[in-house]
Amino acid sequence: MFLTSNHQILEHVLGDRKFLKKSDKYKFLKPWLGNGLLTSEGEIWKKHRRLLTPAFHFEILQEFVQVFEKCGDILVERFQNEIGHSFDVYPYVTFCTLDIIYESIMGVNLNVQKGDSAEYVDSVHDMTRIMIERSVSPIQVHDFLYRFTKNYSTQKRALEHLHRQSTEVINARKKELQEMRNLGRSSKATKSKKVFLDLLLEARIDGRGLTQEEVDTFLFAGHETTASAVSFTLFCLANHPDVQEKALEEQRSIFPDENKMKVTHADLQSMKYLELVIKESMRLYPPVPIIGRQIPTDTKFGDKLLPQGDSLIIFSFGIHREEKYFEDPEKFYPERFERRDGKLPYGYIPFSAGPRNCIGQKFAMLELKSVVSKIVRNFELQPTFPVHELQLVAESTLKSANGVKVKMHPRKLNFAF
Ligand code: HEM
Repeated sequence: MFLTSNHQILEHVLGDRKFLKKSDKYKFLKPWLGNGLLTSEGEIWKKHRRLLTPAFHFEILQEFVQVFEKCGDILVERFQNEIGHSFDVYPYVTFCTLDIIYESIMGVNLNVQKGDSAEYVDSVHDMTRIMIERSVSPIQVHDFLYRFTKNYSTQKRALEHLHRQSTEVINARKKELQEMRNLGRSSKATKSKKVFLDLLLEARIDGRGLTQEEVDTFLFAGHETTASAVSFTLFCLANHPDVQEKALEEQRSIFPDENKMKVTHADLQSMKYLELVIKESMRLYPPVPIIGRQIPTDTKFGDKLLPQGDSLIIFSFGIHREEKYFEDPEKFYPERFERRDGKLPYGYIPFSAGPRNCIGQKFAMLELKSVVSKIVRNFELQPTFPVHELQLVAESTLKSANGVKVKMHPRKLNFAF
């Protein structure tokens, strides 16, 4: 494995269609995600990407805002139970982002924030941990030897649950569609709105359906990443009261009328300062801290030869903290992005870059703004005492082993939504 935070190598690799194949470490995710967009390659990837890209069109994203808002409201309600003491926001936020992904692109309302989906979340955690452990273990890397390890039986259990869950989502949507069709017969006015999952249910590529593997892929890629981003943004805001105050000022200017209850797509678009805050949080805490590609042919970079077939691991976390690209890199300073846009495109890559970048990045940005702004309007975020020291771990997404802890107090201001 060749781990790099070198900007020139990145520019070469991420921008070049020859380097589209993921590193062979991603094969450890295949029993779960199959040939979904994240793990597939070659023609299959190209066809899936072409088919799925229109589902993230600007106009379609606007329709999701009310889902973000509704799920964010439930999150705010749940935070009320934690007022005044230090607690880990991550599990709460994870259930919220799961609800969002289920309801927005899958079109099913499982309401996990009000119930309990701990087994799904734990299974995702097991699979991503096992993927990283297998990548670096001389024993577990071999399929045969792996069968004799504890991780193998953990994976078996996790997969059973994950696939059961995605089947449940698919069946729930099919049932809903059937009900809508039945209703449509009696009332012409009832027209079902198509969601991403419907596109998958209808699609056939080379005679093959792609529903389950893409449902698994988008459920995973669409909730763990955003949970990580929201949690670390809240942590940064709690520990930087001056930044939080500016973000709040912006909210006051967008919502001068406390009775205005409905947050629109245009409102989210106008949260320019909050966008800088989120960008800066993702610089310091990139939700996907490493990205892997396979080297297609022997390739020379300066005096180094990268042999064909080896894994090139792009260390986004390291790139984002390089002094060469970011002055005073450890400092949380959202304003740095006011001057930076357009410069050094591969020096800031929370969503990766080039043709294999994140298909859901615009969706993610809207979701993050909706959820974080709601929390800022409802709570004053404070640091814990003593200040919580994060223990960062990369389990395909960035987490903190000892949680992401903050304190919350209800805002006295009249931000009643
Ligand atoms: C803050 C939130 C997010 C971050 C930071 C993020 C980051 C990334 C990164 C770095 C990649 C490239 C991974 C690699 O090359 O191994 C990626 C790919 C991907 N992301 Fe996201 N993502 C986010 C949210 C989402 C959401 C909300 C969705 C779906 C609704 C999504 C769906 C995907 C998919 C399907 C891919 C694979 C794309 C391909 O290979 O063509 N992501 N994401």
